[in-house]
Amino acid sequence: MIPVCRLEDLPEGESVRVETTPPVAVFRTEGGALYAIDDTCTHQDASLSEGWLEGCLVECPLHAASFDLRTGEPTCLPARRPVRTHRVTVQDGVIHVHLTAEEGTAA
Ligand code: FES
Repeated sequence: MIPVCRLEDLPEGESVRVETTPPVAVFRTEGGALYAIDDTCTHQDASLSEGWLEGCLVECPLHAASFDLRTGEPTCLPARRPVRTHRVTVQDGVIHVHLTAEEGTAA
């Protein structure tokens, strides 16, 4: 479980990059929902935390692939592979990310 920042420090419609390995992007939607996905686009090396958030979708800043924050699935080309999603909780006002294990590794 990785602390990210205080909830009030991540305004709605904003995102923050967490320097884990690999990095994770945490999003707070306009509706206040929190999501975390791997930060690196599966198409090329772009940071999704620098993308455009619209509803539960984030658009990659490099070639405009879009990913569903709820599932990690790409919703349009050029990305074809999903990003991993991670569970997010808020404890005592602090956002935490619970990293999903890499495929083939123990949790
Ligand atoms: S790097 Fe994300 S769509 Fe190309």
